[in-house]
Amino acid sequence: MNVRVYRTAGEAARAAASIVADRLDRQPAAVLGLPTGRTSRGIYDELARLHATGAVDFSRARSFNVDEFVGLPPNDRRSFRAFMQKHLFRRINLPKDRIHFLDGHAEDLAGECEEFERRIAEAGGIDLLLLGVGENGHIGFNEPGVALHARSHRARLRLETRRANADLFGGRVSAVPREALTMGVGTLLDARAIVLVATGKAKARAVASLLTGRITTARPASLLQLHHRVEVILDSAAAGKRFPDRTA
Ligand code: GLP
Repeated sequence: MNVRVYRTAGEAARAAASIVADRLDRQPAAVLGLPTGRTSRGIYDELARLHATGAVDFSRARSFNVDEFVGLPPNDRRSFRAFMQKHLFRRINLPKDRIHFLDGHAEDLAGECEEFERRIAEAGGIDLLLLGVGENGHIGFNEPGVALHARSHRARLRLETRRANADLFGGRVSAVPREALTMGVGTLLDARAIVLVATGKAKARAVASLLTGRITTARPASLLQLHHRVEVILDSAAAGKRFPDRTA
C-alpha cells in the first residue's frame, strides 16, 4: 500500500481529487466507484471546482456508487443518490445514463444486487474506486462480522454506523434505516485501483488496522491489504502517531 499523509483534511481531499482528475485525463471513459460520507464531500467539492475550470471532463466516464440505504425512494433527499446529486453530479458533466446506483427501494432487493453486479461487469469492471472507512473499519456498508459477503448484498447496519449517518436524518438515529445495499468485499477488491481516504482522529484506529493490523473480517478495511494497488490518503489526525514525521 502506498500511504500519503497530509497536514489537513482539505489537502487530503485535494490529493484524492487530483488522482481522479489524472485518471480521467489518461482514461476519459474510466469506470469510477464512488462513496458517500463527510470525507467524500471535500473530494467532490474539489472535483466540481476542477470541472468548473475545465480541468476535468466526466462526459465519457461512468460511475457506480458503493452503497445505498434500503427503503428510501430514489428521490428521497436523505438517500445516497440525493447526496451524490447535491455534492457532485449536479456540478459536473457526467451524463445521467452513466450514473449507477443500487436501488434500495427495489421490490426484489436480491435481484437488484445481481443486476448491479451484472452492470459493473458489463461496464468492464471498476477502474478506480474511491473509498472511505467507518470508525469501526467498515468499507462500503460491509460491517465487521464473522463472515463477509463477496458480492453486492443486503446488509444490516450496526448501531454505531447508523449513528454516524444520523446527520442525513436530522440527527435522529432512529430514523436511519436499519439496512442497506452495498457492494461486497469482492466487488470492491475487483477494482483495478483503490484510493481510500480517511481524515480525523476518530478514524485513527480503523486506519491502523488497515495498514498494519491482521487481516480479519472483524475489520473489513484490513482486507484491502490483499489488493496490489491501494493508495491510502490521510490527514495527520487519521494517521495518528504512526506517521508523525511523514507529512507530505
Ligand atoms: C458510511 C458509508 C461509507 C463511508 C463511511 C465513512 O457509512 N457507507 O461508504 O465511506 O461510512 O463516512 P464518513 O466519511 O462520513 O466518515
